[in-house]
Amino acid sequence: MAQKIIQRGAEAVIFEEGMDVVKCRVKKSYRIPEIENKIRKLRTRGEAKLLERAGKFIDVPEMKKVDEVAGTINMEFVKGKKLSDNLDLLSKEKQEDVALIIGKNISKIHDADIIHGDLTTSNMIFVDVKMSRVFFIDFGLGFISKKIEDKAVDLHLLKQALEAKHFRNFGTLFSKVLEGYSMSKNSENVLKQLKKVEMRGRYKDKY
Ligand SMILES: Nc1ncnc2c1ncn2[C@@H]1O[C@H](COP(=O)(O)OP(=O)(O)OP(=O)(O)O)[C@@H](O)[C@H]1O
Ligand SMILES: [Mg+2]
Repeated sequence: MAQKIIQRGAEAVIFEEGMDVVKCRVKKSYRIPEIENKIRKLRTRGEAKLLERAGKFIDVPEMKKVDEVAGTINMEFVKGKKLSDNLDLLSKEKQEDVALIIGKNISKIHDADIIHGDLTTSNMIFVDVKMSRVFFIDFGLGFISKKIEDKAVDLHLLKQALEAKHFRNFGTLFSKVLEGYSMSKNSENVLKQLKKVEMRGRYKDKY
């Protein structure tokens, strides 16, 4: 079947194959082959599991096939706009809608103890057909945890990513994210912890 490469990253090559997206973990020649194969298997399995689990709570691409040995995950191609390139181009109202959905999405996965691990707008696709939806992708750095700290760090990474990439409207965007997140059963504790995480960050920068 015809393949078209979408992105070639450090860890994975992403290509289109028919109606699917295939994420293929690339081989790293500097690793010992047996270890390399084990790592690839574990990471592929981990990402596929999280994708399936997250799909019970929020919009993610539907998982179609996993091949742990080959290191590939086939999933639905989500037709939409990657938020890293498009968020700033949307109207203010749409941007706020999107930020609210992002916050709600995070609250839902966190309530299921899923930590995304790489919450940036490059890992979010905006679909605006009939209603606004934000698909989360790339659970490659994700893990399962009940810890408030892990949830706070997840939010902190998103805050930093928004500040760096979408600084024009950062304040409003992040407050909308938090508004959405407030539906989480642990939101108060996570936000308290977020403050601590941020204090730590500042302290580290200074000394
Ligand atoms: N299901 C999908 N539908 C549409 N586009 C996708 C899909 N999955 C990935 N993409 C596109 O490919 C890009 C890279 O995918 P992804 O973020 O999963 O890989 P990565 O960042 O290279 O991987 P990793 O962070 O694990 O090294 C995305 O930013 C997006 O543009
Ligand atoms: Mg990514």
